[in-house]
Amino acid sequence: MGAYTEQYRRGLDDPEGFWLDAARAIDWVRPPSRALDSSGAPLYRWFGDGVLNTAYNALDRHVEAGRGEQDALLWDSPVTGAKDRLTYRELRDRVARFAGALRSLGVGRGDRVIIYMPMVPEAVVAMLACARLGAVHSVVFGGFAPAELAARVEDATPTVIVAASCGIEPARTVEYLPIVTDALAATTHQPDHVVVLQRPAAPATLDDPRHVDWDELVASAEPADPVPVAATDPLYILYTSGTTGKPKGVVRDNGGHAVALAWSMPAIYDVGPGQVWWTASDVGWVVGHSYIVYAPLLVGATTLLYEGKPVGTPDAGAFWRVIAEYGVRALFTAPTALRAIKRVDPDGAATAEHDLSGLATLFLAGERLDPETLSWARETLGVPVIDHWWQTETGWPVAANPRGLEPMPVKPGSASVPMPGWDVRVLSPSGEELPPGREGAIALRLPLPPGALPTLWGDDDRYVESYLSRYEGHYLTGDSGYRDDEGYLFVMGRTDDVINVAGHRLSTGSIEAVLAAHPAVAECAVIGVADRLKGQLPHGLVVLKAGADVDHGRLRDELVAAVRDEIGPVAAFRDVSVVEALPKTRSGKILRRTMRGIADGRDEPVPSTIEDPGVLTALRPILRPGS
Ligand code: COA
Ligand code: AMP
Repeated sequence: MGAYTEQYRRGLDDPEGFWLDAARAIDWVRPPSRALDSSGAPLYRWFGDGVLNTAYNALDRHVEAGRGEQDALLWDSPVTGAKDRLTYRELRDRVARFAGALRSLGVGRGDRVIIYMPMVPEAVVAMLACARLGAVHSVVFGGFAPAELAARVEDATPTVIVAASCGIEPARTVEYLPIVTDALAATTHQPDHVVVLQRPAAPATLDDPRHVDWDELVASAEPADPVPVAATDPLYILYTSGTTGKPKGVVRDNGGHAVALAWSMPAIYDVGPGQVWWTASDVGWVVGHSYIVYAPLLVGATTLLYEGKPVGTPDAGAFWRVIAEYGVRALFTAPTALRAIKRVDPDGAATAEHDLSGLATLFLAGERLDPETLSWARETLGVPVIDHWWQTETGWPVAANPRGLEPMPVKPGSASVPMPGWDVRVLSPSGEELPPGREGAIALRLPLPPGALPTLWGDDDRYVESYLSRYEGHYLTGDSGYRDDEGYLFVMGRTDDVINVAGHRLSTGSIEAVLAAHPAVAECAVIGVADRLKGQLPHGLVVLKAGADVDHGRLRDELVAAVRDEIGPVAAFRDVSVVEALPKTRSGKILRRTMRGIADGRDEPVPSTIEDPGVLTALRPILRPGS
């Protein structure tokens, strides 16, 4: 039996033994005596009596073990021309001091702090400072509009918001403080303070008594020691798109998260102490939380924070320059980033200008990896290209190729095999397990392993209803797919209203809500349409109210602007079609699933309950151009 099979089996047959062993990779204030607590099933807890501090594990213990002078964080910012390096000692000291600063503003264990910052070291400092205090951070991605930020403020009720004065996109500077101010004008909950990191590109005017300058605050702060917290205490909340407009507050605990991530780093990514690891994503997404910040630091690696794009900052060789300059051992990014590079430099000529000999592996996730991009990356870089599959909710990979444990053969189109603790099932609509080769709903048998969400913030009922109620005893992933006869998992796409635009997860339901609010729109549907660069793009289909006399071009502009204002530029919403009708069942339900299937190129059966099949026929060329 290979190492993978042995560990996978043990994870399912003896979860207590497997996870208590894995927990030894963490320094506990009080080690857990038990792993799983099922007393609140279907809500499960891990390491219930364990006590620890996540920031201590990410920083202090490495300094105490003599690694204080090793680089912890490398920052490379082609959009500003700045670079920085922080050793473990320096990062620990900055985190301790900012934790003291937050404490001076009244932040304590269990309090929430919203972090609204671009890819600057201070974003990492702020996250770890919260962890140090036992406070709960909630990072909000910079590409969201004020209304999205407001929804998160209302739900998380933060004591403090930490923001930067601006983020820098290649074509424009995004001023963050006006977005915070607009968001707070719309919320009933108000934070006590807004800490602002002034960036030279666009300093903000601090004109509210609640505004506090980061530098001034830190100058007078006393460093704070790590606060011991229960393993089950929340470390962070990360909001993600659900099927409705209201984002879901995915909760991550301290103990299970630390144990699972510390297991994943050597076993899946084959990265350990002192090695340089680069995740080219954003701290606003789960990939950034787990694999820019926590996992690499928990294992004493050096993590790279990159404030730039794959192309245009300044060119398609940007990633290769960074890999060579810092001796990156492994890169993790989204397939879209590679498609963007390939579009500009199809022959990969820019790789010849950089020494990429230190790169061992390229990991890709966040969206489907198309076989064309996979083979291009493999040929261009000459290293294994590893697809793996997971979600904000799961916190770490469900299916992957465990490169450190036992490298498995790569099968194009597959995210490889389930990782220990994840009992992956492919189910029919009636809940029966499907044989190899048959596509169905991907579900995970409960309990989920450490690191997965224990619940949604303040809403156990919504957690149960959204994820656990479709199939008894299972968590519903929202993805469909199949397994082959060797147990490899092939993830085919979402079965719900979530779409994936350039690796960014969006809800079509929330875009529909914006379109439906326009006075000329009678009804609408938003569908993810295949896109060669971004994987999917949202496409709005709108039916006008009877008698509405509007110029279609103007309507389109208004709807595009409304989505940008309400959700944000990250929605990349540009395509609107005014159509005569939407396909419906005889009882009036819009056939979104059927339209999605057509847009994804699947041979979706047309329900017998369809009211007028001609409506669907007329939409086919719009849903899948070129079909
Ligand atoms: N703050 C503010 N605005 C942001 C932002 C941020 N952090 N990130 C993106 N935006 C804006 C962009 O400026 C753009 O605005 P525009 O409409 O005014 O041009 C819009 O949101 C869409 O951004 P994006 O999806 O990034 O598209 P792009 O055309 O600017 O860039 C790529 C295309 C391929 C270069 C880019 O999508 C990319 O790097 N993708 C990698 C995928 C990735 O890292 N995914 C993370 C999950 S693992
Ligand atoms: P997020 O929560 O933003 O990480 O998005 C998770 C969703 O992205 C999953 O439910 C999938 O739909 C999709 N996804 C992530 N990784 C992959 C992958 N390797 N292959 C296919 N889809 C993926």
